[in-house]
Amino acid sequence: MLEEKIKTFAALADETRLRIINLLIDGELSVQDIVHSLDQSQPRVSRHLRILDEAGLINRIKEGGWVFCKLNNDKSNNYLLDHLQKDKTYKNLKNRDIQRLYNLQKSRLNDANDFFFKQYKEQYYVDPLNQFSNVALDNQLREIIIKNIHTPINNLFDMGTGSGKMLSLFSSLSKTCVGVDNNHTVIKMAKSKLTQDNRNNCKIIFGDITQTEAIESYGKADLVIYHQVLHYFDKPQDLIREAKKLLNKEGFVLIVDYLKHQNEFLRTNFSHRRLGFDETQIKDYFQKSNIGLVDKIKAVSFKQPNINELKVMAWLGKNYE
Ligand SMILES: C[S@@+](CC[C@H](N)C(=O)[O-])C[C@H]1O[C@@H](n2cnc3c(N)ncnc32)[C@H](O)[C@@H]1O
Repeated sequence: MLEEKIKTFAALADETRLRIINLLIDGELSVQDIVHSLDQSQPRVSRHLRILDEAGLINRIKEGGWVFCKLNNDKSNNYLLDHLQKDKTYKNLKNRDIQRLYNLQKSRLNDANDFFFKQYKEQYYVDPLNQFSNVALDNQLREIIIKNIHTPINNLFDMGTGSGKMLSLFSSLSKTCVGVDNNHTVIKMAKSKLTQDNRNNCKIIFGDITQTEAIESYGKADLVIYHQVLHYFDKPQDLIREAKKLLNKEGFVLIVDYLKHQNEFLRTNFSHRRLGFDETQIKDYFQKSNIGLVDKIKAVSFKQPNINELKVMAWLGKNYE
């Protein structure tokens, strides 16, 4: 016990390691993002990460060719992490690191937007599997909604709506629906498709799903859907935090995305940032926003030549405030 304490305090007795902890307080980060934010060499940062890991202060999680780090929120660490979060003594240094991280993530979002812009302009769509319409998956999604949520829902938000596929499928379950996207080309397509299909209860709006203030005027949501969206973001927990702001007291969040996989080419060729998710991660993202996992579907498998098997999963969370 005493030895563990000494190890913990020794690990924290270093400026760079305190800065790393500060960066991670807001959620998990990849090693390369930490390297960029600290403006230090990768070997140096990796050594510090190893020390923090060995002291039980962080966890390092391999995801394909990348490693992600997160705080180990073990009860015995909580008081320390809480103290460090409130500590203002090296505020300028902390702010500088966070600003560098913010700039990096912003430029990445711009790259991702350019990617979607090009894809949508050239021809709708995007990554190899999303073109599929999978009846088994669509049915399971419908079932999980109907089983857990009293329908008709009052207001449904589809975040990163793309062509509005989720709205086409589920608008009949809700009185009103709002599809949000930040790509004008796809918004036009979605609008004309929904008009053609007489989905008169649906609105498609231009908006940024990482900053929902501008969307809040469209009312509170009973269900917020992220269908094949989370894996484009470095910090998926930020999206859940935004969903939380839109949710009614007992509203739901439905995440549909890949289960953890090994198809690194989706990062290199298709702008994915995360190689899918597992239940622990989703629970963790939910928990940070006081949302509880209430149901999930059976994974649906997609097989294609030259691709390691990919499975699609859906998790349903309920707001607990
Ligand atoms: C892979 S598509 C998924 C589309 C749709 N949910 C579906 O499953 O068919 C991801 C969508 O998210 C949108 N998107 C990406 N970043 C966004 C942001 N910051 N704000 C709003 N939409 C965004 C893209 O324009 C794109 O249409």
